[in-house]
Amino acid sequence: MKKCIIYYSKTGNTLSVAQKFKDFDLLEIKASSDDPNIQNPILTKIPDITSYDYIIFATPVHGFQISKIMKTYLESISSYKGKTIDLFITHFFPFAWMGGNSSLNQMKKIIESKDGNIRYMTSINWKNRKRNQVIGKMIESYHA
Ligand SMILES: Cc1cc2nc3c(=O)[nH]c(=O)nc-3n(C[C@H](O)[C@H](O)[C@H](O)COP(=O)(O)O)c2cc1C
Repeated sequence: MKKCIIYYSKTGNTLSVAQKFKDFDLLEIKASSDDPNIQNPILTKIPDITSYDYIIFATPVHGFQISKIMKTYLESISSYKGKTIDLFITHFFPFAWMGGNSSLNQMKKIIESKDGNIRYMTSINWKNRKRNQVIGKMIESYHA
């Protein structure tokens, strides 16, 4: 069972959570610019999902949506068929409705439109004092 976390992280929060998982390949998505306002970013590092059975996709919320870099990446994959897929996002605003839930659903929709099935989804609020508990629970429940 090959497993990886495919992530984008502009300021390091999402990466720091990804690094807490053990025994996963960490694969970064990179673009020619990290400017979150670019609508159609040009990707310069595009992780290949082919050889992985279990994939966690992780991104920050930017403007109530997933980062444009993650969106562009997810849309570029032709099929997610046969993969076990979990998601997490990190965000800053205090309520899930301020971007967390809609971002997870946005990722789910893209992946499902390409024959993928999502299993677990977690929204991590960076300001929440229970943040580490949420992260700990997620790491316990996410498994191949
Ligand atoms: C341009 C920009 C827009 C953001 N928009 C939102 C938002 O709509 N909702 C939210 O909860 N957090 C928002 N944030 C906060 C980030 O989602 C949060 O700090 C996240 O943990 C950053 O992850 P990273 O360090 O992996 O890039 C925004 C941050 C940036 C830089």
